[in-house]
Amino acid sequence: MNKFKRFTVTSALPYANGPLHIGHLAGAYLPADIFVRYLRLQKKDVVYICGSDEHGAAITIKAKKEDTTPQAIIDKYHHQIKTSFEEFGISFDIYHRTSSPIHHDLSQEFFLNLYEKDEFIEKFSEQYFDEDYQQFLADRYIIGTCPNCSNPNAYGDQCENCGTSLNPTDLINPISTLSGKPPILKLTKHWFLPLDKYQPWLEQWIDTKEGEWKVNVFGQCKSWLKSGLQPRSMTRDLDWGIDVPLEEAKGKKLYVWMDAPIGYISATKQWAIDNGKDWKLYWKKQENEADEACLLHFIGKDNIVFHCIIFPSILHAHGEYILPQNVPANEFLNLEGDKLSTSRNHAVWLHEYLEEFPGKQDELRYVLTSILPETSDSEFTWKDYQARVNNELADILGNYVNRIMVLMHKYYDGKVEHETGKIVLTDKSVNTEIGRLYDEIQVNLEAYRFRAALQSVMNMARLGNGYLTEQEPWKKIKTDPAQAKEALHNGLVLMGHLAACLQPFLPATVRKMVDMLNIPFSAIAMDAEMAFASGHQLNKPVILFEKVEDEVIEKQLQKLADKKAATAPTQPAIVPAKENINYESFATMDIRTGTIVTAEKVAKTKKLLKLSIDTGLDTRTIVSGIAEYFEPEAIIGQKVSVLVNLEPREIKGILSQGMILMAESADGKLSFVVPGGEMHNGSVIR
Ligand code: 2FM
Ligand code: ZN
Repeated sequence: MNKFKRFTVTSALPYANGPLHIGHLAGAYLPADIFVRYLRLQKKDVVYICGSDEHGAAITIKAKKEDTTPQAIIDKYHHQIKTSFEEFGISFDIYHRTSSPIHHDLSQEFFLNLYEKDEFIEKFSEQYFDEDYQQFLADRYIIGTCPNCSNPNAYGDQCENCGTSLNPTDLINPISTLSGKPPILKLTKHWFLPLDKYQPWLEQWIDTKEGEWKVNVFGQCKSWLKSGLQPRSMTRDLDWGIDVPLEEAKGKKLYVWMDAPIGYISATKQWAIDNGKDWKLYWKKQENEADEACLLHFIGKDNIVFHCIIFPSILHAHGEYILPQNVPANEFLNLEGDKLSTSRNHAVWLHEYLEEFPGKQDELRYVLTSILPETSDSEFTWKDYQARVNNELADILGNYVNRIMVLMHKYYDGKVEHETGKIVLTDKSVNTEIGRLYDEIQVNLEAYRFRAALQSVMNMARLGNGYLTEQEPWKKIKTDPAQAKEALHNGLVLMGHLAACLQPFLPATVRKMVDMLNIPFSAIAMDAEMAFASGHQLNKPVILFEKVEDEVIEKQLQKLADKKAATAPTQPAIVPAKENINYESFATMDIRTGTIVTAEKVAKTKKLLKLSIDTGLDTRTIVSGIAEYFEPEAIIGQKVSVLVNLEPREIKGILSQGMILMAESADGKLSFVVPGGEMHNGSVIR
């Protein structure tokens, strides 16, 4: 890390489609903020970039849900998210927006750059289309079963369960999220990034990261490369997003995962304009490699493929840009034994926390840092929050600072005086231990081990408490006043070091400590000499951390329980079980896999469809009472299960030869019973 003098640090651009919760913070924001604050303490040239991700289906689907426009959604949430970040002390140099003109221009410039180099594969392909809504179904508009991990709710572009990036046609049993029906396939033209072509280059590049990148990140990349990369469309048939800058692509938009990471660059451009900087120094390759910036992407694990495979491929294909040095992705944070979930409202929302715990952002920063999911998923519980605030922040850190400040005021009216004219740390063993802790903190921070780094900082407070207990200045003040004074002076210098080391983690607390010490902020650079001039006056002590009472925690737990009850699906009424039958009775039924070949309404009826079904044995007519649930055109090609040996009978003058099996939900919704996998017509179901 020392070889870099300039750093470009990014945190994933959150979708402006909802508020932030603690899972977001623990994934991409708190670790990055700690790291950036550390770099700034080291006097490094660093720009910390973030902003709202305002395109893609995540936004339009939310707009539809709230019955408003995508513009209204991004305006609402962009401002809410920005304010929450500020109040929480996330110190971005800029929090930008991908809806800004500078971003649209740069994204189109990237697309054209690759287009003119002939990098894209242009191809007509069949894409899923919702006939009811007359819309192509990209990304989050389509869900189905992940072919990799069998998660039934995988999106058309990614399975968030296993992280695999998908094409909609990879999904098993795809369903439109608009109409809830299986989509049809329709021809459309798109521009594909040839990831397969970049694969050898990617393999070589990723291999250079072995041992440097986190095991989980490196391992995921290797596993995708092993399964072989496929070309990936960089355009979409959507009406919200950045226009594809080609005449023949009118009406099409850039894929959100093409434009979003470019948002890091456009935000840097805006920051450079606002601050008289040169953005190219932070993003472009330099004549002398030693002058290049160190690019770091902080993200959650569901974003690994985009930051380690797709965006680097785009940057590589462009050619002028640096590549990420590291992508320290975190795993997921759970809450009270369950996954955090926006849809189930199972979350601690940042804006609510800030409102309910005013001025206590550092308490949350501390607890979250202590449990960051750095190497595996971890868990937030309110009881643990209470224990950490009370037993660690209040009893160890707060108590230490309070003891020093109170005693300095009690014995010396807060004045620091020494005949040498300067107060420095005179205790050799405390000094050595502080030096060791500094090293530990630095090594851990530079290896993205923030939990361990924070532990070392707290060990400095423990060291201070131990030293005071051993020295007992409250006793020595009578028996050996010179020694009592020296002990308290040593403790005061230690408090200065503690403030310096806490800076990246608890910035609001450090402001209070610096204020009590009555020293300028610049005096607490890490590893700087810490000293006070004789005659220096300290300010009055303030309590750093209040204890969290049981009622506060119970209220939060109750709130989560209430939300759970409010969003829990009502138990569907289950139809009582029928009498047992023997196997022979069951075995008399001949059930086969078939395909609907034609479908039409039966005249003068509301409920009946006349279907012809390819059963593998023959193509036969079946009359089925499903017309209220399915449009005839939408089910042509649908795989079905058919009871083929049901006695034929005449319905409305049509001879029906069999029955289609349907599943019926408590509220009367019907769906086809379809065997998974590739079953040919006529396959026996038993
Ligand atoms: O997963 C998400 O929330 C995305 N909006 C992250 C985008 S990161 C970047 F590439 F912009
Ligand atoms: Zn999966």
